[in-house]
Amino acid sequence: MAIPTTNINGLKKQKIEIELEVFEALSKLPKDIQELMNKAQQARENAYAPYSHFRVGAALRLTSGKIVTGNNQENAAFPSGLCAERVAIFNAGANFPNETITDLAITVRAESHEVAEAIAPCGACRQSLAEYEQKQKTPIAIYFMGETGDIIKVASVMDLLPLGFDAKYL
Ligand code: THU
Repeated sequence: MAIPTTNINGLKKQKIEIELEVFEALSKLPKDIQELMNKAQQARENAYAPYSHFRVGAALRLTSGKIVTGNNQENAAFPSGLCAERVAIFNAGANFPNETITDLAITVRAESHEVAEAIAPCGACRQSLAEYEQKQKTPIAIYFMGETGDIIKVASVMDLLPLGFDAKYL
């Protein structure tokens, strides 16, 4: 990403801005994204989260119209589990390697309290998602929410991972 540089009295600075779009209810989303978020909610309920009791669901839309889902899969050896977003994107990569992903919807539900704020994917998931966006050379829009509350949209994975590492550095 080209970052504009300002030079004030010999001091160089760069500022990165990201734009978030905020939707105040599911009904305000485009119909196809409402449907995608519903699939993410369904996937969330099938999460295997006996340790954290924090369920996450993710749903990806492909250009063919297919929807691919994932949810968090935990393990008694904690680091052996995997987040919902990576289960979903690896599912798409494994089964539809030549299809383009257009949108990703993410939702969470904690068993002990209501999550009313939008929860963005963790750093490791952002890195994994970025790989597929670069592979397909078109942006993946991400919509994320809690169990209730606002839904936030970013237009590209790169909005969540500025200054990220990728294959061009290898
Ligand atoms: N989790 C996700 O599925 N996605 C994220 O982006 C963050 C965390 C899962 C991992 C673990 O099963 C539970 O949420 C608590 O961290």
